[in-house]
Amino acid sequence: MSNEQQPRLYYPSEEMVKNAAVSGMDAYRALCKEAEDDYEGYWARQARELVEWKKPFTQVLDESNAPFFKWFADGQLNVSYNCLDRNVNNGLGDKVALIFEADNGEVTRVTYKDLLARVCKFSNALRDMGVKKGDRVVIYLPMSIEGVVAMQACARIGATHSIVFGGFSAQALRDRINDAGAVALITSDGQFRGGKALPLKPIADEALGMGGCESIKNVVVVQRTGGACTMVEGRDKWFHEVCASQAETCEPEWVDAEHPLFLLYTSGSTGKPKGVQHSTGGYLLHAILTMKYTFDIKPNDVFWCTADIGWVTGHTYITYGPLACGATEIVFEGVPTYPDAGRFWKMIQDHKVNIFYTAPTAIRSLIKAAENTPTVHPKNYNLSSLRILGSVGEPINPAAWEWYHENVGGGRCPIVDTFWQTETGGHMITPLPGATPLVPGSCTLPFPGIIAAVVDETGTEVPNGQGGILVVKRPWPSMIRTIWGDPERFKKSYYPDDFKGQLYLAGDGAIRDKETGYFTITGRIDDVLNVSGHRMGTMEIESALVAHEKVAEAAVVGRPDDLTGEAIVAFVVLKGARPTGEDAKAMIKDLQNWVGHEIGPIAKPKDIRFGENLPKTRSGKIMRRLLRQLAKGEEITQDTSTLENPAILDQLKQPAG
Ligand code: PRX
Repeated sequence: MSNEQQPRLYYPSEEMVKNAAVSGMDAYRALCKEAEDDYEGYWARQARELVEWKKPFTQVLDESNAPFFKWFADGQLNVSYNCLDRNVNNGLGDKVALIFEADNGEVTRVTYKDLLARVCKFSNALRDMGVKKGDRVVIYLPMSIEGVVAMQACARIGATHSIVFGGFSAQALRDRINDAGAVALITSDGQFRGGKALPLKPIADEALGMGGCESIKNVVVVQRTGGACTMVEGRDKWFHEVCASQAETCEPEWVDAEHPLFLLYTSGSTGKPKGVQHSTGGYLLHAILTMKYTFDIKPNDVFWCTADIGWVTGHTYITYGPLACGATEIVFEGVPTYPDAGRFWKMIQDHKVNIFYTAPTAIRSLIKAAENTPTVHPKNYNLSSLRILGSVGEPINPAAWEWYHENVGGGRCPIVDTFWQTETGGHMITPLPGATPLVPGSCTLPFPGIIAAVVDETGTEVPNGQGGILVVKRPWPSMIRTIWGDPERFKKSYYPDDFKGQLYLAGDGAIRDKETGYFTITGRIDDVLNVSGHRMGTMEIESALVAHEKVAEAAVVGRPDDLTGEAIVAFVVLKGARPTGEDAKAMIKDLQNWVGHEIGPIAKPKDIRFGENLPKTRSGKIMRRLLRQLAKGEEITQDTSTLENPAILDQLKQPAG
């Protein structure tokens, strides 16, 4: 930090340091040194201590087919066994695993013994349907006990699950089923959110009817809302019915450490989402290790990650990490603003939550709500149970950080600002609560064993204080293994030739502090947007727009937004005349709904502008930098002399209508 702007450092309390799994910076440095001195030895030690292996591994890292790395390849294990049986065998059978709070406030507690029985029943049901090891199963479920059960059951029988977030549209669901070649779909009649019952099975039916989902042989439907549901004879079955007569025990399928535990589709630089493939052994290891070091999980803790199981955060920090640690955790069906914006704080109070993990967007919207409605301010609730706070999904601005620290954490809880990605499986750069002095807005230092750096376009490390491209220098156990069905795209996206295939490219920019070496993420360097912590490709939205019969051309960019981090702005050229006034307004609505239907409501552009053309160079390239300036409402400072059609800038300056 330069002297003029020394930021305040927040040190962990003595008590926090004393009790933490990683106690103090010396302990942190010792772990980093252990990994530096003997990289494989460090990870092998952790894997032996934290994971229960059916067949112990003798190989650690296999780099022979780089960048298709393998970890612990000759070891065998089962993730569901590690999450459930292991805890029951260790005497935790009667401990509460899940505290499910429904949208309407109803609470259901599920012990480890119960959860194991539920998972075994559903595993047996899946096996009866012919689902076997290596088959892909798509799960399209709301936040529910069944969601966790379905994921665990797939893991138990060695089927590879692929969750599709419940907010995605029929088209998005269809594309993911098709790409994965899934044999079964697990969904529900509907979901409750904010006091409303929303349909889900009808969307699944629409997806299945589109063509391209012929691989699906079975559809299992969880009864949740009691909403209308058409069941196709021979294909569709009720979850409760298929489980009813099943045994409460089920021998796990022992799989190799590299067996694909799950696929999770995420957005990249092209129009087509990519199926990020994760492993079994390395992934589980990092899920457990980060629960231990980053969240400092203790036996009596109540842990709450507010993410949805449809995103990677919900995979690692709801379904797998906490359960593999024998923790008690909250699974929440509803939304933070129902029945009012004090819901999170009330739930922390009611369930005496110790560790709370959420997204900056949620915090920012709750700050706004508390300013408008003083009764939902966190100070009205007893939040004294909290010990550690977490943030994930997007950069947290220092003002939101300070508010979170002061008003939710009572000034005493460290905030772990965890930087990671769908592809990384778990935390990559993050403070450790009993060690790292915190700087608001910085994710601080790499997790022990993760070797991160900031480089220039040639892959050369830049000095601290100079921004650059975030990379990871060594493969790590929980990393993406490939893109399902497209190994070439995996190589090109993450191990590009520019870096001689040696460095993992995260897709984010970063800068390290001159003195502390702390990392601050400066945002994506590719065509990926982060809206409310949801990741979306600009090309994906453009493809959706041009699929509309009236759209000739579209370009999508991001614009900074106080609440959602980034907002989507679309520049559209229609096939007919450029609309104005009421016509433009109607067209905007139409296009927003269209994108909602093609991808999901989260992808709807906030602002749509119409032009007779897009700003292009003489060679026909869209000048995106210009569009970004227009979206922000900035004066165009850039040289526009290469622009083919400068007059259209005026058309695109203002929101249409
Ligand atoms: O841009 C970074 C941002 O979210 C991206 C990953 O998105 P996704 O794969 O959907 O996973 C989100 C949950 C792990 C990253 O490339 N990001 C995530 N966490 C942070 C962040 N940006 C800044 N600070 C973070 N803590």
